[in-house]
Amino acid sequence: MTTVATQPFSGQKPGTSGLRKKVTVFQQPHYLENFVQSIFDALGGIAGQTLVVGGDGRYHNREAVQTIIKMAAANGAAKVLVGAGGILSTPAASCVIRKYGTFGGIVLSASHNPGGPDGDFGIKYNIANGGPAPEKITEAIYAKSQTITSYHIAEAADYDIDTLGSGEIGSCRIEVIDPVADYAELQQQLFDFDAIRAWFAAGHTLCFDGMHAVSGPYAHRILEGLLGAPAGTVINGTPLPDFGQGHPDPNPAYATELVARMSGPDAPDFGAASDGDADRNMVVGRGMAGEPLLISPSDSLAILAANATLVPAYRAGLKGVARSMPTSTAVDAVARALGIPAFETPTGWKFFGNLLDAGMATLCGEESYGTGSDHVREKDGLWAVLFWLNLLATTGKSVAQIVQEHWSRFGRHYYSRHDFEGIATEKADALMTALRGKLATLAGQGSHGLVIAEADDFAYTDPVDGSVSRQQGVRIVFQGGSRIVFRLSGTGTEGATLRVYLERFVADPAGHGEPTQTALAPLIMAAHELAGIGQHTGLTEPTVVT
Ligand code: G1P
Ligand code: ZN
Repeated sequence: MTTVATQPFSGQKPGTSGLRKKVTVFQQPHYLENFVQSIFDALGGIAGQTLVVGGDGRYHNREAVQTIIKMAAANGAAKVLVGAGGILSTPAASCVIRKYGTFGGIVLSASHNPGGPDGDFGIKYNIANGGPAPEKITEAIYAKSQTITSYHIAEAADYDIDTLGSGEIGSCRIEVIDPVADYAELQQQLFDFDAIRAWFAAGHTLCFDGMHAVSGPYAHRILEGLLGAPAGTVINGTPLPDFGQGHPDPNPAYATELVARMSGPDAPDFGAASDGDADRNMVVGRGMAGEPLLISPSDSLAILAANATLVPAYRAGLKGVARSMPTSTAVDAVARALGIPAFETPTGWKFFGNLLDAGMATLCGEESYGTGSDHVREKDGLWAVLFWLNLLATTGKSVAQIVQEHWSRFGRHYYSRHDFEGIATEKADALMTALRGKLATLAGQGSHGLVIAEADDFAYTDPVDGSVSRQQGVRIVFQGGSRIVFRLSGTGTEGATLRVYLERFVADPAGHGEPTQTALAPLIMAAHELAGIGQHTGLTEPTVVT
């Protein structure tokens, strides 16, 4: 065990979901070590504790796992549970932390950001409840990273992380575990696997796109193994360090192979994709005239909530639901009908943890293709797919039927997010500052046939611990309930990304058949005008529309 002198790196500040930087930044000597030691120090040390370690298999994953194991040993950890091959999806890491009651875990992932030598790498700390560390802890980690002078590491040969079983580094036990087994066991406790098996046996079909990322091994074992889906149901199911040079973000812009397969008369009954670390999901049905039916994540959350009692785990009903502020209010309409509370939190899964722990919410979701429940403390991509499969199998309905019936009952919340990427940080900040500056004067003003009812900068007081998070995004709400939300991304590694979220509610089923972008056209024009997007950024069109 040795202690190495070091100096702080600036900018080791965790964002929406951990610390994300270019691989080349993480490859600098001491960079990862400094951050890992800062985590341990911020937690008051890890002597005698058990930690979980794993990642999404992206470039630099294996090297980082070795460093963390050796540092955990030198910092006096009693035990480290490592996913074989250094693999653990984000929801599987959460599951393992909870199941074995560990002190916490380190997950290596930059989620949906591209990987490879020129791509992104990331690291996040999850606490004992299995969820992302709350802001209080991420701020303490950052503070430690700015004053660090040394770190502890074992001078040991690389540990064999590919063979299941246990061994030691010094007095620290290292256990290499099957990354899928605990997660697969948990899912079987939640869903009606017999009904889903019968659905596949009856000839129904699914295409699951692993996008060359970490969901592949989980999907192979659960869908094709335990549920008997035919071989070939899972595509792009082998994790690659560079995700096949792709962008492992399951949305219509990047999951193009899935969208193509869901088009045409021979499309499978159901399609789904998951991201780099397997916590996101996109679900697709067969639409009209060979068109894929892309289900917006906000709608998916609402539909799962409305039908939850068809699933064994949620048969007794939901305690409440929670959504991030920019997520559409479709789930709020369901909550009203069910007579349960609906919570609105800032963007980022860490804000759901307290609500789930306190038993105030059962299902949570974000518009960014994230859905989950109290079974773990992370969003869970394959869980959402299994939930949908359970609904399809139990109701015998098609995806399109379930969606149409939902809209008829609750109304349709047209929804889209427009991203403006690669903006110079000063320009993006200037846009937000200007927008914030005029919030107080906006109520009552008109724009493109819409009248502004209220405008504010979202602040959240956690109902469990009372902590306050300010400046979480500008909300413009129009008479009739349409909304525009503006915020800057907290996960990028280059420049700034402006996210513009658009929502319009239409109650009458006669108005449910419009293309989304057409239905939102007046809001899109209002958004450009209100924020002066063109003037501030030079961009007249978004770079990504989801
Ligand atoms: C994005 C999403 C957010 C999600 C996060 C991590 O963060 O918008 O909902 O929780 O990724 O997956 P952002 O880049 O907007 O800060
Ligand atoms: Zn992710």
